[in-house]
Amino acid sequence: MSSGAHILCVANQKGGVGKTTSALNLAHSLVRQSRRVLLVDLDAQANSTSVLMADESIAPEQSVYVVFKDKHKADPLILTGRIAGLDLLGAHLKLAEVETLLAGAVDGFFRLADALQDCRERYDCIILDCPPNLGMLTVNAFVAANSLLVPLQTAKFSLDGLTAILDTATTIQGRFNPGFRVLGALLTMHNARTAISQAFIEPIAEYIHLFQSRISRAVAVEEAHMMHQTIFEYQPGSKVALEYETLGQEVWDAIQEG
Ligand SMILES: Nc1ncnc2c1ncn2[C@@H]1O[C@H](COP(=O)(O)OP(=O)(O)OP(=O)(O)O)[C@@H](O)[C@H]1O
Ligand SMILES: [Mg+2]
Repeated sequence: MSSGAHILCVANQKGGVGKTTSALNLAHSLVRQSRRVLLVDLDAQANSTSVLMADESIAPEQSVYVVFKDKHKADPLILTGRIAGLDLLGAHLKLAEVETLLAGAVDGFFRLADALQDCRERYDCIILDCPPNLGMLTVNAFVAANSLLVPLQTAKFSLDGLTAILDTATTIQGRFNPGFRVLGALLTMHNARTAISQAFIEPIAEYIHLFQSRISRAVAVEEAHMMHQTIFEYQPGSKVALEYETLGQEVWDAIQEG
C-alpha cells in the first residue's frame, strides 16, 4: 500500500440502500474529527455532488468523468465546497458512458487508482461513493481502495446480493489489489424494534463483520438531502447525526487497526 490517505469504498450493487447518505455523512463525521477528507462521487446520478455543491451542476470536464475518458489526474479536478476540510471530486451524467468507453481498454480497471496517486498525500481519507452496480466504475473503486464498507438495508437485503459483492471484492483482491479488505457492513434505515430487523442480523454476521453503529430510519435524512445538506449541517443534534458521529469513530478505529 502506498502512503497517504486511506481509500475507503462505499458500495452495494443494490439501489437506494444508503450508500450516498453514508458516504457523505461519514465523510463529514471524519472531518469533524479533524481528518482531511476527499469524497469521490462515482455515480452518474451525482447525488453526493449535488449535496456538496448545493445543487450547482459541474461541467463534464471538471468531473471524475475525464479521469476515465482522458486518464486525467484527480488533483486539478478537486473542488472545495462549503465544508472546510471536505473536498469533492464530482460526478457528471456523462459517467454513464464510462462502461462503453472502457470496454476493451487494457488499463481500464486502473484509471481511478492512477488518477488518485498524486493527491493521496493531501488527505487522511478518500471516500468513494459507488453507483448501484458492479460495473467498471465499482471495479475501478475496488482496485483503487484499501477497504470496503457495505451499507445494507434490512428491507432490501438478499444473501445472494451480499455474496455477489463479497465475491467481486475477493476476485479484485486476488488479481489486482492484494491489500484490499472488507472493513464491514453498516445497517442503514434500521428499525431495531421490528422482528425482521433482528432476525436479519444473525445470518449476515456469518458473512461479514457488522459495525456496532447502526443508522436509524429518520425523516431528517430525506429533509437534509432535499436541502442539499449533510445531517451535521441540517440537524447536528439529531439521533442520526449522533449515529454517524459514532460510525466515524468506529470506522477510523477499524482503519487504524488494519
Ligand atoms: N437513515 C435514513 N432514514 C431515512 N431515509 C434515508 C436514510 N438513509 C437514506 N435515506 C433515503 O433513502 C434514499 C436512498 O438513499 P441513498 O441515496 O443514500 O442510497 P444509495 O444507495 O446511494 O442509492 P443509489 O443506489 O441510487 O445510489 C434517499 O432518498 C435517502 O434520503
Ligand atoms: Mg447513491
